[in-house]
Amino acid sequence: MIPELILNNQQKMPFAGLGIYKINNESDMSDAVNDAVDLGYRMFDTASVYRNEEIFGKAVRSCGLSRGELFITSKVWNTAQRMGDIEGAFNRSLDRMKLDYIDLYLIHWPVPGCYGETWKHLEQIYHSGRARSIGVSNFGIVHLEHLFEMSGIVPAVNQIECHPLWNQHELTAYCQERGITVQAYAPLARGAYVEREILRQIGNKYQKTATQIGLRWLVQQNISVVPKSINLDHLEKNVDIFDFTLTDTEMATISTMDEHLRTANIPEDMINADLQ
Ligand SMILES: NC(=O)c1ccc[n+]([C@@H]2O[C@H](COP(=O)([O-])OP(=O)(O)OC[C@H]3O[C@@H](n4cnc5c(N)ncnc54)[C@H](OP(=O)(O)O)[C@@H]3O)[C@@H](O)[C@H]2O)c1
Repeated sequence: MIPELILNNQQKMPFAGLGIYKINNESDMSDAVNDAVDLGYRMFDTASVYRNEEIFGKAVRSCGLSRGELFITSKVWNTAQRMGDIEGAFNRSLDRMKLDYIDLYLIHWPVPGCYGETWKHLEQIYHSGRARSIGVSNFGIVHLEHLFEMSGIVPAVNQIECHPLWNQHELTAYCQERGITVQAYAPLARGAYVEREILRQIGNKYQKTATQIGLRWLVQQNISVVPKSINLDHLEKNVDIFDFTLTDTEMATISTMDEHLRTANIPEDMINADLQ
């Protein structure tokens, strides 16, 4: 069973879930969701810009679990923020997935000049009960400081790229001190550390792979993870990370691997924005 953590509004969220970016084929989606559910996954991470909410909704409706057993995240994209169409974007996501609420709704990127206003709309959606929790993604300290100045609601989650090759220690500490759960996207650095010797050696001790060591290093810092996979063996391994504990020395050793490696693309309309 995948353990859960408690968000700052007392909602529970699994420590690990399935990222579904780039799963755009209906049968791949159906297989991935069904395999994941069989393996104990309960959390799924999508976004309007992934253009797969419809096929995801279809897969999830036939997976055999009730809505209450699932934790579903989606995100509002930059164009909707610029158009001030947050409510419309949220409703379209619900319609595509055929859901009547979303567990966690995130601002996908801190679009300059827009994200403060977007947050106010997310607060309204949260108060309406149609999003059980609200949060942000790709926010740096400067963006979070701005939200704190204008809003009483502290984001439940900041979803950021985070893995052994970009450890994000400063931002993670900042978030965690303020009750914001950090969720790591691209937690496998899209495969960039699969062959790293340090991780393989630590993995040998626990009979785990380098990727399992990387994911374990994240959850052991209370960071939630949403690795993507459509491969059954990978799906299984990516959640088989809760039966061992890395030592403090191993945790510190992995933290020395940081290269500030960004594997996710910055959207074109955000390239000149003030991102950390
Ligand atoms: N908020 C944001 O801006 C943002 C940005 C990017 C991603 N995300 C979210 O984070 C999720 C994960 O990120 P990501 O998809 O970019 O990268 P990732 O999860 O770090 O890596 C996915 C890649 O690793 C492979 N893989 C998975 N498990 C593996 C394993 N155990 N061993 C070796 N290779 C493995 C996958 O291939 P197979 O499918 O063949 O296993 C895929 O090619 C996304 O799906 C999305 O939900 C959010």
